[in-house]
Amino acid sequence: MKIAVVGAGTRCLYLMDIIEKYDFKMISPSVVAVADIHDDAPAMAKAREKGFFVTNDYNDFFDRDNIELIVELTGDLNIYNDILSKKKSNVRAIAHTTALLFWEIGKAAQLCGKANQELSEAQALYNAMANKLILEDVTVIGKDYKIRDINDTFLNKLGLKRDEVIGHYCYEITHHQSAPCSGEEHPCPLAEVLKTGKSSKATHTHLDQNGSKHYVSISCYPLVENGELKGVIELSKDITEDIDFEKNMMQQEKLVSIGRLSAGVAHEINNPLTTILTSSMLIQEDLEEDSEIYKELTIISKEALRCRKIVKSLLDFARQSKSLKKPDNLNEIIEESMILTRKQANFKDVQLTAALAESLPKVDIDRDQIQQIIINLTLNAIEATPPGGKIQLVSQYIENKNTVKMVVSDTGEGIRPENLSKIFDPFFTTKKSGTGLGLTITHGIIEQHGGTISVESTLGKGTQFTILLPLPKEK
Ligand SMILES: Nc1ncnc2c1ncn2[C@@H]1O[C@H](COP(=O)(O)OP(=O)(O)OP(=O)(O)O)[C@@H](O)[C@H]1O
Ligand SMILES: [Mg+2]
Repeated sequence: MKIAVVGAGTRCLYLMDIIEKYDFKMISPSVVAVADIHDDAPAMAKAREKGFFVTNDYNDFFDRDNIELIVELTGDLNIYNDILSKKKSNVRAIAHTTALLFWEIGKAAQLCGKANQELSEAQALYNAMANKLILEDVTVIGKDYKIRDINDTFLNKLGLKRDEVIGHYCYEITHHQSAPCSGEEHPCPLAEVLKTGKSSKATHTHLDQNGSKHYVSISCYPLVENGELKGVIELSKDITEDIDFEKNMMQQEKLVSIGRLSAGVAHEINNPLTTILTSSMLIQEDLEEDSEIYKELTIISKEALRCRKIVKSLLDFARQSKSLKKPDNLNEIIEESMILTRKQANFKDVQLTAALAESLPKVDIDRDQIQQIIINLTLNAIEATPPGGKIQLVSQYIENKNTVKMVVSDTGEGIRPENLSKIFDPFFTTKKSGTGLGLTITHGIIEQHGGTISVESTLGKGTQFTILLPLPKEK
């Protein structure tokens, strides 16, 4: 891989050095060009000596054919963005922060292996670098689980000084434990490397100070010195955002495809359904009500009507892209929706109450859509709650988050834990005559309003849906 470097400081020198020293078998990197506005920058002389292409303007890199990777080492984000916008699509670019990883790992390697590292160690470094081109938390850990080196990023995150970490057990520092990690939630990748001699990966679940779940991906690469396994280089990264993003994307993709499908299918099905309904009604007109055929036709009409309900939900769902938002009073919409659902609640002898915020700022919403989701959630709650149970609708203004919160809670049957991740999926239902689209539509509408919906449920005790809607930014 042919590399061009922007910024000929000591890091550039170091990069040239590490590439020269180690045998990176698979990518065989070589520096071929260096750019710096200062002719006397430390790496410029060496670059000239080596016969590399040397320039004061990195723009000269873009029309050179032999460059495959541009490494930005000045730390100036504007330069990096400029490179990204001008480079050819087949050329890769690495930012200063990422390049620091090379620096940190190299430092760690020098500390562990000294001058005559073995090939396997260089390979381990290569693996670490090639697989993880983003600056992460890096530690070098010995076979005795003691930390031998740590990078600054990780130190800063831990809020500790280097000498408070070096020589201490890794599990003490990162998990506040007195023994190595174990079990399914916290498998120890270091133990795995010591056992197999091969690199190992694990994902740990950590709770932050606010009790929120964080997923941390940990990779360990073996460090071999004179043929003997000495320890590992461990890289860890908080991947919570990636996981959440992926989950959201999956949900979004599902919604988009189901939206397209439903618009087409629902439209096509509506006409034949109407024909079935009217035909069976017409035949019924000529029949005695107690005749067998009349009864069969009643079943046909009932089922056709059920299909219509599904089609209507599908059309609502497909139509949800057109939301007409304007500043509106959420409390008013909640009260109106309660009027519409009160009959069902009374019929089931379920108490329906509201605790609404006294002064709620206006929210940018599509009135009909928000009413639809309140009705969806309330009907679900009524259906899940046995007679004598309670349902409450709450609104609240969360000033410090510039958000309005709405909660629909019930004292119903609750949702099985294994179903919690499925309830927003299209067509997921546990009801005999449900379409499984109510919550899918609700989720889609909330997303369109830039809000979030979350659920908490305890089997046999009840369920609580929480919706957060952002307020317009103050001008
Ligand atoms: N408040 C609740 N309590 C218990 N389970 C719930 C609650 N709300 C939703 N569910 C579960 O989530 C599933 C999906 O709900 P959703 O509203 O999407 O569809 P549905 O109610 O089954 O059908 P439809 O809304 O078309 O009548 C329900 O079948 C039920 O199992
Ligand atoms: Mg429903």
